[in-house]
Amino acid sequence: MRKNYETKLWGGRFREGEDKLMEEFQNNYTETLWLLQSDIIGSKAHVKMLVKCEILTEEEGTTILKGLEAIEEDLKENKLDLDGDYEDVHTFVELDLLNRVGDVAKKLHTARSRNDQVNLDMKLYVREQLKAVMGSLNGLLSSLEQTADENPWLMPGYTHLQRAQVVTFKYHLMAYHSMFSRDLRRIQDAYKSLTESPLGCGALAGTTHEIDRQYTADLLGFDTVYSNFMDGVSDRDFILEALADFSILMMHLSRLSEELCLWTSAEFGFVTLDDRYTTGSSIMPQKKNPDAAELVRGKTGRVYGNLMGLLTVMKGLPLAYNKDMQEDKEYFYDSLNTTIQCIDIMERMISTLKARPENMKKAVKKGFLNATEVADYLVKKGMAFREAHSIVGQIVIYAEDNEKAIEELSLEELSKFSDVIDNEIYTYIDYENILNKGIKKEML
Ligand code: ARG
Repeated sequence: MRKNYETKLWGGRFREGEDKLMEEFQNNYTETLWLLQSDIIGSKAHVKMLVKCEILTEEEGTTILKGLEAIEEDLKENKLDLDGDYEDVHTFVELDLLNRVGDVAKKLHTARSRNDQVNLDMKLYVREQLKAVMGSLNGLLSSLEQTADENPWLMPGYTHLQRAQVVTFKYHLMAYHSMFSRDLRRIQDAYKSLTESPLGCGALAGTTHEIDRQYTADLLGFDTVYSNFMDGVSDRDFILEALADFSILMMHLSRLSEELCLWTSAEFGFVTLDDRYTTGSSIMPQKKNPDAAELVRGKTGRVYGNLMGLLTVMKGLPLAYNKDMQEDKEYFYDSLNTTIQCIDIMERMISTLKARPENMKKAVKKGFLNATEVADYLVKKGMAFREAHSIVGQIVIYAEDNEKAIEELSLEELSKFSDVIDNEIYTYIDYENILNKGIKKEML
């Protein structure tokens, strides 16, 4: 730990140092070490711009740049001495640079504030990490597609969690494929909208130096710069947008998790999860619990919480930067890691699950899943749908009383309800055939 120099970037106007408790309270250095790389990347661009604008000499620029590159190298190789009570990562980088290149390091922060700096760091980090989320999502999408293709089995579709109409397991899984495709599109949109560079906005009111904001924007891969300095230092919309996208995505993961919990229960018995993603009980030897699915469902709460947390932090803030905004980092970092972990674990559960088509078929046969098709059949014979609906209702009561499925009733029994019914009805309401009719073919 380095102790023998000033560890604050703002000590000048203070007669006394911070109270220890105050220091612990406001420092966020150890919590945000993951921002180090972005901070260095941003500083490298800033120093190049200062040289271009002749605010620093070539020589000063080269020395600072080499120092920053050395820090970056050590960071990559895990050789950086990160111990110490730094206020934040910006303080660490500046003091580490001072240690390496001497007093010229003190020129790095010309025409820059930590307020534009930290927002730049976050933008660079969010941009990088959204790519990671997209990568994980693409993995989940292909697993869903593959597992769906391998499992074309008939299964009951539900409304109100009551058996409703026949669908296939494949089609059910592909509904989630559609949801996650929308999530991917949303995250791509969030990525594409990271167009403005905050650097140069200064503390809130730009700078008296003739800097070139567009130059740093170009170096860092942004299309443009913030048109308003005050907005540029206090915009956290891009973080909120990511958190909102993660929340919707987690909602989808949570719904799928809930289905997995239901499907693996003995009551459904539609799916067996791979042992690797389940756990046992310390007392009940027979138990196999869908913990991974339950945890995904549970962790959705914290991702929602982080979104609500940051929205609440932001809602009462006057322009421009306020220290409250420092809270954005942990919310984002936690949601990011939770979301990626949940996508990845879901991908594994989906790619290794075993469907149990026999149980799905049994469930299809119980619960009058072809009742709507009996009504459709009567409509084809010329009856009004509302009338057909009522007649089939009567048939269902009769079948239920006699503990039979509709297709198990004889023609004689069925004809009592309507004289338009003939033998054709049995093929019409056969579960396999149902999916070959009308637009239901789209489900195959
Ligand atoms: N640690 C601060 C943050 O995370 C950096 C910006 C500090 N700015 C300031 N004016 N104190 O937001």
